[in-house]
Amino acid sequence: MERRWFYVALLSVGGLGLRVGFAQPAEEAPDTMEARVMACVPCHGAKGEGTDNAYFPRLAGKPAGYLANQLHAFHTGRRHYPPMNYLLAYFPEDYLKQIAEYFAAQRPPLPAPADPAVSKDVLERGESLVTHGDAAAGVPACSSCHGPHLTGMEPAIPGLLGLRATYISAQLGAWRYGTRTAAGPDCMQIVAGHLTEDDVKAVAAFLAARPAPPDLAPAPQGTFILPFACGSEPQ
Ligand code: HEC
Ligand code: HEC
Repeated sequence: MERRWFYVALLSVGGLGLRVGFAQPAEEAPDTMEARVMACVPCHGAKGEGTDNAYFPRLAGKPAGYLANQLHAFHTGRRHYPPMNYLLAYFPEDYLKQIAEYFAAQRPPLPAPADPAVSKDVLERGESLVTHGDAAAGVPACSSCHGPHLTGMEPAIPGLLGLRATYISAQLGAWRYGTRTAAGPDCMQIVAGHLTEDDVKAVAAFLAARPAPPDLAPAPQGTFILPFACGSEPQ
C-alpha cells in the first residue's frame, strides 16, 4: 500500500532526527528552557516555527492547553507516533506543562502560504467545508471551532494555519484510523469520520494555502460557542 510506505519513510526520517536529539549532552546542559527543548529543535525549529520537512508541525503560538494535551497524549501513548512517544516517555508531567507554555508563547512569523497543487474546484470545496461545513454530510464548519480566522481558541483548540497539507491530511487520517484520539467526546474523530478522502485533500490544500491573518493569537476562551462539546476542552 502506498500509504504504508509513506509511514515507513516518515519513521526512518523521524528516527534520524531522534538520534540527533539524543546526541545533546543532557547532563552538561544548563537547566534552562532552551536546553530542555534542544532535542525538539531539529524537527520543530528553535521557536517551534516548524522545519522544511512537510510532516514536522509548527508548534509556536498554539494554545498551551492544546500543546499540553498533545504532550500528555504522546507521553501516555494515546497519540501514536513512535519518535515522539519514545522521546517524551521519561519527561516528568510538570516539564511537559512548562514546555507547552514555552512554545505557546513563541510568535515566529508564519511560513509563506503553499502554492496549492490542486484544481480550482478542489480548492473551492476546501473553502466551503472550512467556512460553511456540509450539513448534509454531517460536517460542521471547521471555522465554527477553529475560529473565524482559523487561529484557534484558548485553552485547547489549535489554530490551523502554518501547517502543510501533508501534515493536515495525515492527522485527519490518524483520527479516522484511530491512531490519534482525544478525550471524549472526541470532536475531531467525529468530524474526520464524516469527511471523504477527497474532502480531506480539499481542506488540507485550502488550509495550507491561507495567508497569515494580522493577529495570529488564538481567540480568548469563550469567544464563540462550539457546535458541540469537545472532551479535550477543560470543563
Ligand atoms: C524526530 C523529529 C521530532 C522530534 C525530535 C520532536 N518531534 Fe514533536 N513531532 C514530530 C512529528 C513528526 C509530529 C507529528 C506526529 C503525528 O503525526 O502525530 C510531532 C508532533 C508534536 C506535537 C503535536 C503538535 C500538534 O500541533 O498537534 C508536539 C506538541 C510536539 N511534537 C512537541 C515536541 C517536543 C516538545 C519535542 C522535544 C522534547 C519534540 N516534539 C521533538 C517530530 C518530532
Ligand atoms: C466541534 C469542534 C471542531 C470542529 C467542527 C472541527 N475541529 Fe478540528 N479540532 C477540534 C479540537 C478540540 C482539536 C484538538 C484535538 C486534540 O486535542 O487532539 C482539533 C484539532 C484539529 C487538528 C489538529 C491540528 C494539529 O496541530 O495537529 C486539525 C488538523 C483539525 N482539527 C482540522 C479540522 C478540520 C479540517 C475541520 C473541518 C473539516 C475541523 N478541524 C473541525 C475541534 C473541532
